[in-house]
Amino acid sequence: MLEPMTPDRTADATRTVLHRPGNALTLHDLQFAVPVMTVGMLLGVPEETLGDLVCWTSAFVRAAAPGASRADADAANEAVRELARLFGDRLASGGSTPELSEEDRIANTIGLLFQTHDATAGLVGNALVALARHGDGDIERAFADVLRADAPVQNTRRWAVSDITLGDQPVRTGELVIAVLGGSADDCRFGSGLHQCPGERVAMTIAHEIVRFARDSGLVPDEIGRAVRYQPSGNARIPDLRNVTTTEGMR
Ligand code: HEM
Repeated sequence: MLEPMTPDRTADATRTVLHRPGNALTLHDLQFAVPVMTVGMLLGVPEETLGDLVCWTSAFVRAAAPGASRADADAANEAVRELARLFGDRLASGGSTPELSEEDRIANTIGLLFQTHDATAGLVGNALVALARHGDGDIERAFADVLRADAPVQNTRRWAVSDITLGDQPVRTGELVIAVLGGSADDCRFGSGLHQCPGERVAMTIAHEIVRFARDSGLVPDEIGRAVRYQPSGNARIPDLRNVTTTEGMR
């Protein structure tokens, strides 16, 4: 049975991941690997499997990105088989419930990791950029800036299942509506309504721990704030920090 992902458990798990013996974390790891490992740990994945968990989740996410190749799709299929095997074993004791079959529970669990991967990388990355730009080490101010003006998820999509009128605009069955989440209203950064993000508190806790760790370890060079490149994406705003060199703290 899974324990609830409370802020305390989440913060503890993030710190455990950040301080694993022998860690040599890059900024890219802080964006992508640490959040996935933390959610994995909260889901009961054994510590020795956390590295694989990141590889499998990344492979799955890559295949859903624009421009994915046949090879990406093959790698993703293999990765999803591994994830399903892992969670099949881990969740077996919970079994199925009248509401959810075991297959659906496994798919939902994999979905949590999928949702964690890019969105939290954007949250962490944009907060690091804001921190570098301000240069005052104020983490709360950096996150406030991100949520006000630098949304990690810029938009989401809906397809009309019947003819409707949206505002004064007719939308026919099957047509696509793009909902902009990165606009001026800062209360929808985590979505809204039925599909609003259930991971907001977990993601904010993880991101705070990571950004605090980066600041305290001297891993936020000014350069991050100056020339930011972003990963190609139709809806996520994720700074690409792979080529950033840091002078201190990198191990
Ligand atoms: C631990 C990290 C996270 C987890 C586990 C998580 C989980 C999820 C899940 C399961 C959904 C689908 C909800 C549904 O369809 O009913 C979702 C939706 C969403 N998440 Fe997250 N999320 C995480 C981080 C984030 C972050 C950092 C952001 C951006 C600030 C974000 C923004 C959103 C948005 C905008 C939606 C709604 C998408 C839509 O309506 O189409 N999430 N999240």
